[in-house]
Amino acid sequence: MPGPQRWEFLKTFFRDPRVASVSPTSPAAVARICQTFDFSSPLTIIELGPGNGAFTRYLLSRMTADSRLLAVELNSTFVATLNAWHDPRLAVVQDSAENLSALLAARGFPPADAAISGIPFSFFPGERQEGIMRQVAEALKPGGVFIVYQFSPQVGAHLKAVFPRVAARRVWRNLPPLSVYDATR
Ligand SMILES: C[S@@+](CC[C@H](N)C(=O)[O-])C[C@H]1O[C@@H](n2cnc3c(N)ncnc32)[C@H](O)[C@@H]1O
Repeated sequence: MPGPQRWEFLKTFFRDPRVASVSPTSPAAVARICQTFDFSSPLTIIELGPGNGAFTRYLLSRMTADSRLLAVELNSTFVATLNAWHDPRLAVVQDSAENLSALLAARGFPPADAAISGIPFSFFPGERQEGIMRQVAEALKPGGVFIVYQFSPQVGAHLKAVFPRVAARRVWRNLPPLSVYDATR
């Protein structure tokens, strides 16, 4: 990721502790985490906590022209950055992932093939984590996958309380390395 984007991320982290990381996810880790997506057909994806777009950029560069990506981000600096891309496939909403069901209903967003999240789940008590996860599960098509990447593995137990199938993996090419979960509805 180019220097200006890393600098924007670091500055935003110092102003907003909810950013929860000093740098965006590395391009190598993004590619590894997204390796399960099949970009050859149209996809409908929900992204929670896109930051300044490490995953968003990767997804848009591979998704078909008729795919859709809804990004839910709390921080106004990041929302402005993503909106400046003017990609018709991307809708950016400044709100909390905790309001996901209402956001999707208000937009008539269709059932999603996948969701991906970098929000700092460990900042929330367990029942609020699972509240977000349940909203994601309801937003997915049957068989849809929720990919969660975190520095801490604590989120795995909560995902298992909500999703019938959860696979854990470790992605090393990031500082610090990431715990990644693929939770299938
Ligand atoms: C660790 S950063 C990940 C950023 C980006 N996805 C990446 O991988 O580089 C977490 C992001 O989640 C956002 N965030 C934190 N809590 C959130 C919430 N409740 N709803 C939506 N976004 C949230 C933060 O503002 C930040 O952009």
